[in-house]
Amino acid sequence: MSPEQGIDRRPQLGTRLVGARWHQREAIDSTNLEALRLHERGAPVGTVVVTDTQTAGRGRLGRRWDDVPGRCLLMSVLLAAPAHAPGLLTAAAALAAAQAIEALVPVPVAIKWPNDLLVGGRKLAGVLAEGPAEGPVAVGIGVNVNGAPEDLPCDLRERATFVSHEAGRELAVAALADELAARLDDVYHLLVDGHVPTVVECIAARDALAGRRVDVRAGSQTLTGTAVRWLDDGRLLLRDDDGREVVLDAGEVTLL
Ligand code: BTN
Repeated sequence: MSPEQGIDRRPQLGTRLVGARWHQREAIDSTNLEALRLHERGAPVGTVVVTDTQTAGRGRLGRRWDDVPGRCLLMSVLLAAPAHAPGLLTAAAALAAAQAIEALVPVPVAIKWPNDLLVGGRKLAGVLAEGPAEGPVAVGIGVNVNGAPEDLPCDLRERATFVSHEAGRELAVAALADELAARLDDVYHLLVDGHVPTVVECIAARDALAGRRVDVRAGSQTLTGTAVRWLDDGRLLLRDDDGREVVLDAGEVTLL
């Protein structure tokens, strides 16, 4: 296999799929975009792209995703949506990232629907899956690893944090990448093998919203109510203030 085709790191990682090709870059526009470009050139599912910094990192809802070069995990994995639970791919990646962080440092990581990882109510990671309607998608995970809120743009400082800031010590970004690859491989195979309730239970155990009052902005609408739980298809069940149950596909949640 030539270096342009990436390295098969599965034996080293102990994975079945994730890491089938591993591409490490110094700087790139976006690992999601690079993973999709590689796929157009024949890269298989399980391909991973990791970079030290992104020049056009992509966040949810068309937002930017900024990083501190060399101090954040910026990783995308090409995966096919699992047939039993296509809507759970983003949540599965969030779960794997939470497990990977906790495997390396003793901080309790919560998952906020649909794609945020929080510690102490502050965001330290996000997930964005992108790709064509047919075929594999790039599941992109960004984790603020080593740093402090002051390293972030002013508008984010109050709401965001870093793993090292919460844990009280720095950790190797590469070690977190390997741990995440292994955890994602496990969670992904649980979904592929039909163990959807098991995965949803693990997500529910880390749910930052269940039982909490929230505002949800969905398109031009804002709903206020109490988050009930994640559903098996990845949607959020909410009880609005009139007592009606509402199922949400997407939206921006604010904890009240
Ligand atoms: C969000 O919370 O808005 C999602 C952020 C996802 C960021 C990651 S970093 C790696 C991958 N490449 C990107 O351009 N975005 C995702």
